[in-house]
Amino acid sequence: MSKKPQVMILGTGRAVPEKILTNADLEQIVDTSDEWIVARTGIRQRHVAEPGSALSDLVTEAARNALQNAGVTADEVDLIILGTVSGDMQFPATACIVQEKLGAKNAVAFDLSAACSGFLYGLQVAEGMMVASGYRRVLVIGGEVLTSMVNWQDRDTCVLFGDGAGAVLLGPSTDGRGLLQTFLGSNGAHSNLLYNAGGGCLNPPSAANLAAQVYAIRMEGKEVFRHAVSSMVGALTKVLERAGLTEKDLDLLIPHQANLRIIEAVTKRFKVPMEKVYVNVDRYGNTSSASIPIALDELRRDAGLKDGALVGMVTFGAGFTWAAALLRV
Ligand code: ACO
Repeated sequence: MSKKPQVMILGTGRAVPEKILTNADLEQIVDTSDEWIVARTGIRQRHVAEPGSALSDLVTEAARNALQNAGVTADEVDLIILGTVSGDMQFPATACIVQEKLGAKNAVAFDLSAACSGFLYGLQVAEGMMVASGYRRVLVIGGEVLTSMVNWQDRDTCVLFGDGAGAVLLGPSTDGRGLLQTFLGSNGAHSNLLYNAGGGCLNPPSAANLAAQVYAIRMEGKEVFRHAVSSMVGALTKVLERAGLTEKDLDLLIPHQANLRIIEAVTKRFKVPMEKVYVNVDRYGNTSSASIPIALDELRRDAGLKDGALVGMVTFGAGFTWAAALLRV
């Protein structure tokens, strides 16, 4: 049955790099076409960070916007959770660098690695820590510079990704609004279908590894597609069942923005009309853990998301990991 929300969103923010890479630009880099990319993915352009730029800068800007939106100062923040797989460095955690850049000197900060599911995983972890340990002002952020790890000669992957960050500030729920349910799933049996093998102990930096593009994203697109659809449908079903609700109760669905065809397949199987589904993959590409919080911020600031609306969020990513959440905004 639906539980009383314990935590709610106080503010949201987002940040993307200025530079835009269109499909026409990609046609100059690799053997592809605007027509193919739009038909197979729905993507028309993506924001890309300049080589060597820091994810922590994008994340800090998104977090500042969320704090401003909530009217909360950085020193009031007591926890920062950053979902990312493309942080500034192997260590320290990019969340700690963000803590310093924000001036959030009273916060505990750490990164969470769940690929495209990082933001929704972060929401459940934050809720648990707030309820169990009394944290009261919590930044949950998804941020990626995935274009720093694509092989620009590999047309199977390089057309898909974009960079960005989205942040929410959570606080204790005061009026019945907030996080109603979350569901997380993972299955490491499929870790070989979507990965970047570089950067860890398995493939330390070497000229041979660099030449072999070990540091680039590899993906079995069709398999990822198939698992993404069934896992996302399953996760949504779970959170609605647990809340004692049905898909008809949803005012809005925010699916992870990986690919328009995945979104359409999920909504068809789930019987949610496309008018209730938020789509911005055409403008951003797949920003992984940032896609849902960027969408949430656009909806709250620019698209008139009504107070009290029931919002479903659902995602899928490398691991495999997947997750869903229900939110009364
Ligand atoms: N431009 C032109 N042609 C291309 C491109 C490209 N960018 N990429 C592949 N092709 C070609 C292939 O070489 C192939 O040619 P062939 O028939 O001569 O061999 C043809 O297009 C079809 O390739 P497929 O891989 O079968 O194309 P598919 O319809 O499966 O679409 C895609 C590929 C878009 C990657 C799809 O599999 C997909 O969306 N998978 C999900 C992947 C995803 O979203 N991953 C993101 C990370 S996970 C997540 O966020 C959920």
